[in-house]
Amino acid sequence: MTGAAPDGPRTAPDGSPYPDRSRPTFERDIRRMFGHIAERYDWFDHVASLGNDFLWRPRALGQLDRFRSPGPIRRVLDIGCGTGDLARQVARRYPHARVVGADFTGPMLQNALGRNRRAREGSRVTLARATALRLPFADASFDLVTSAFVARNLTDLARAYRETRRVLRPGGLVLTLEITEPPSPRFGALFHSYFDRVVPWMGAAVASAGPYRYLPESLRSLPPREEFVEVIRAAGFPRVAAPSQSFGIVTTFLGEAPPSADQRR
Ligand SMILES: C[S@@+](CC[C@H](N)C(=O)[O-])C[C@H]1O[C@@H](n2cnc3c(N)ncnc32)[C@H](O)[C@@H]1O
Repeated sequence: MTGAAPDGPRTAPDGSPYPDRSRPTFERDIRRMFGHIAERYDWFDHVASLGNDFLWRPRALGQLDRFRSPGPIRRVLDIGCGTGDLARQVARRYPHARVVGADFTGPMLQNALGRNRRAREGSRVTLARATALRLPFADASFDLVTSAFVARNLTDLARAYRETRRVLRPGGLVLTLEITEPPSPRFGALFHSYFDRVVPWMGAAVASAGPYRYLPESLRSLPPREEFVEVIRAAGFPRVAAPSQSFGIVTTFLGEAPPSADQRR
């Protein structure tokens, strides 16, 4: 059972936000949902992913380094930075980089701010309140744009990639880490029995039934891997790769914008 009128925000029986993509309030509900879980987001993520999330972000950065053409990475934007984990890992990996973590959920940014203050590399990470669909940055301001576990919450994936392309310099890079459908049907069945049943049950145990029911639903709203790659390519990234991790539970979508004439020489 769920609450609210068909075009109002949907809530779970425990009163927690339960975003519904078909409602006009979807984007606002996503913000409300992340505001609701901001305080316990990190530890719940570690528990629900059985600790795998500790590996996924550093491995994704390793995959990026194998994919990219050589060159300095100095200006990085992490979209949907949440509590800032990936933004800080990027700053650690590229010691000359300045990283902007952008997110549209205030409590997530508050959480990130506290964590940045406690981390050595946190002084090179600044935070901005912004939406992925209208980035408040000038054209060609970044060498790399990253995001982790954000794509499935967006109302317009193609538009988000066009915005990403706009703020990247020629030859700039995009990295998107996202949960994906495992290619093996056998492993997929195992994954779904955990992801679709156990995770929502765990969410309900911490008064967040809505967010963790929404989680498996959000995966179903993403295009399949090949279509996802086409969305990135169509936004202006002719070179794309999609290496996966953990039997395909997560994929690192990587794209490189065309270099300038000078870079080609
Ligand atoms: C699942 S969390 C991931 C946080 C972080 N990237 C990580 O790896 O832990 C998704 C984050 O994306 C943010 N987000 C979702 N849609 C967004 C949008 N359209 N613009 C900006 N941030 C968005 C949410 O507020 C939330 O903090």
